[in-house]
Amino acid sequence: MKSNHIKSDPWKIIEDSFDPNKVEASESIFSLGNGAMGHRANFEEYYSGKTFQGSYAAGVYYPDKTRVGWWKNGYPEYFAKVLNAPNWIGIDVYYDNVKLDLNKVTIQKFLRTLDMRTGLYTRQVTLTTHEGLNLSIFATRFLALFQEELGCIKYSVKIHNVAANIKVCPYIDANIKNKDSNWDDQFWELKSQSIDENFAMLHTKTFKSEFDLCTYQGVSFYKNSIPSKEYSLEKSSGRISYVFEANLAPNEEVMVEKVGGYCSSLQQSQQKHKKHVKKIALESLSKGFDALLDLQKSNWDEIWEMADISIEDDIKAQQGIRFNIFQLNQTYTGKNPLLNIGPKGYTGEKYGGSTYWDTEAFCFPFYIATKNESVAENLLNYRYNHLQKAIENAVKLGFTGGAALFPMVTINGEECHNEWEITFEEIHRNAAIAHAIYAYERYTGKTTYVENKGIDVLVGISRFWSQRISFSKEKKKYVMLGVTGPNEYENNVNNNWYTNYAAKWCMEYTCKRLIQISKDKPKVHKTIQERLDLSNPEVIDWEEKASNIYLPYDKKNDIFLQQDGFLDKDLKKTLVIPSEERPINQHWSWDRILRSPYIKQADVLQGFYFFENHFSNEQLKNNFDFYEPYTVHESSLSPSIHAVLAASLERVDQAYDFYLQTSRLDLDDYNAEVHEGLHITSMAGTWLSIVKGFGGMRIKDNAIYFSPQLPKAWKSFSFKINFRGSIIELSVSKTNSLLILIKGNPVSAFLNEKQVIFNSKSDVK
Ligand code: BGC
Repeated sequence: MKSNHIKSDPWKIIEDSFDPNKVEASESIFSLGNGAMGHRANFEEYYSGKTFQGSYAAGVYYPDKTRVGWWKNGYPEYFAKVLNAPNWIGIDVYYDNVKLDLNKVTIQKFLRTLDMRTGLYTRQVTLTTHEGLNLSIFATRFLALFQEELGCIKYSVKIHNVAANIKVCPYIDANIKNKDSNWDDQFWELKSQSIDENFAMLHTKTFKSEFDLCTYQGVSFYKNSIPSKEYSLEKSSGRISYVFEANLAPNEEVMVEKVGGYCSSLQQSQQKHKKHVKKIALESLSKGFDALLDLQKSNWDEIWEMADISIEDDIKAQQGIRFNIFQLNQTYTGKNPLLNIGPKGYTGEKYGGSTYWDTEAFCFPFYIATKNESVAENLLNYRYNHLQKAIENAVKLGFTGGAALFPMVTINGEECHNEWEITFEEIHRNAAIAHAIYAYERYTGKTTYVENKGIDVLVGISRFWSQRISFSKEKKKYVMLGVTGPNEYENNVNNNWYTNYAAKWCMEYTCKRLIQISKDKPKVHKTIQERLDLSNPEVIDWEEKASNIYLPYDKKNDIFLQQDGFLDKDLKKTLVIPSEERPINQHWSWDRILRSPYIKQADVLQGFYFFENHFSNEQLKNNFDFYEPYTVHESSLSPSIHAVLAASLERVDQAYDFYLQTSRLDLDDYNAEVHEGLHITSMAGTWLSIVKGFGGMRIKDNAIYFSPQLPKAWKSFSFKINFRGSIIELSVSKTNSLLILIKGNPVSAFLNEKQVIFNSKSDVK
């Protein structure tokens, strides 16, 4: 059921009332990030109500020992998690020596906004304490894009009716806990704490993984806008707090400007941390919050200039897509090849901040088209750099000869999840990784990435598939047993059509590229053969297997079968599920889910999405009409794929419904789980549903194609794409569609199947 708590606005996320039951949900929705760190929107001051404290430093994880009932060979040793890091945003407030607690006062006014245009978060609260003191808080903060270790807060307390003594105490605190912990281990060790006047820092180290993290703060205090150095210090183990105290008459205020954040050993060696962050803190304090905010604004301007999608006359749709684009940019900037995109980004603990197939299957197209090729290459290199680990992972499962199984969940290349049947058996992730390499090549037209690096990954993956399938004498075909497809509501099935088809495609693509390289660049081919110990017979074997894979098909319905035996199920459509039993994963036993026909997310249809030009429109229609009515869309990744496919079928109304579901999944809390964090990776799916769905963007034969359709509710929409270094803009209105070259050289482009002739910066209908 949808929630209407968040107000509609084209550029802002707004919450204009305080509901203690929505605090955790809003903490997710108002999260801030800058690619290197991220925070849930926890209040600065103390709050004794239900809250989920979360602050994360990118890439800093702990290997939490796996917890299973009965250990089996092949289980991963640990589940890696990006940890809840020491708190640097906290500011305690005392009035007449009573600690302010928003859970214990009467809130008169509450207004929280997140301005997506600038990344600025603000919160205004007016309240009355038990003792009858009226005061207001104004808190605003942002995480700097121009300096990844820096966050800035401006926080003021003003009293209204009677005189009072007010203390504001900005602090840093390393005494934090992860909600998600297998054994209740201590994750952090405090190494040292240091204080120099208005600068303080804590050095902590993760146990086992030994990441050093410096958490710091710098402060400037003001009484009625006049700077003051009259503050004191309180410290205890792992906690340093400054204390600024003032006796205020009505209408007087105290204010603190606080800068802070993290520097981890992934960014700088630990010996340099103090000097580095102290310089950042002191320089930032001397520039002041407002000047720093100007820098931040120009950074976001640059991002929006390229990445914005504007929609006229549909405010909810507009807010939805901007929220998604905003969060994707807060999560991953593409600067650091060690980092990736966790399904919850830096907004919660679920999924441990690790990398899933989501990156290649959903996020990759967004970053390649709205950033540039080097960002896309960083994403590919992340897996390339993990190839050896993927080979070791396959060895653990009994594969040989350089076969590579990339993990379903990873932070350092090792598989690190606790669930066997669901997660590990989703070996289809190997195909998504190969597909991203293919997508890169198709998008950029550059063959060198595959020749130099991508081919190593493709060969490892093909070796895996060729060993993972087995020959069925009965079917006289190669079959694949015991897998889980993208639909996680079926486990350990035989011949999941999607996985079989994707395996076939991977082997074919690898063979095709190897043959091409041998023709065009025999020397390069020879080095590849030597480097990978690859023989011609091995490649011929893949070709033979690929052409003989069993692809389950039902003649009567003319559909591919999701897996062997799917039609044995009691095929009742999702319409019969009572609404109070949705989502079924929160109401039904796992046993009931597994035997039901209900599909969590696109499975056969995921194959139609990836390989659409392999199938006719008729085939897409049959499969879509058969499977969608059994699909509960309980994965956030589901609606976007359905939106793109519905748009391919020219069902624009249906595509629009799916679009609203994906784009407002978190804002309207469709799956009643936003309190756990945002669905960051599925946000890239939202972008896909506009760009590939309504924009009809496709890349074919070194050209970019658009075949736009306008949802009825929209007056127009437009977006920009970086295609091969040129920026082009598509605008679609009720009367026409335009493709404009904004920057760069004319590229080969088609609008509604007609070639667009760009003169530099000209437009064509
Ligand atoms: C989905 C997976 C996805 C994971 C992380 C699960 O709910 O079923 O496909 O990889 O979430 O987003």
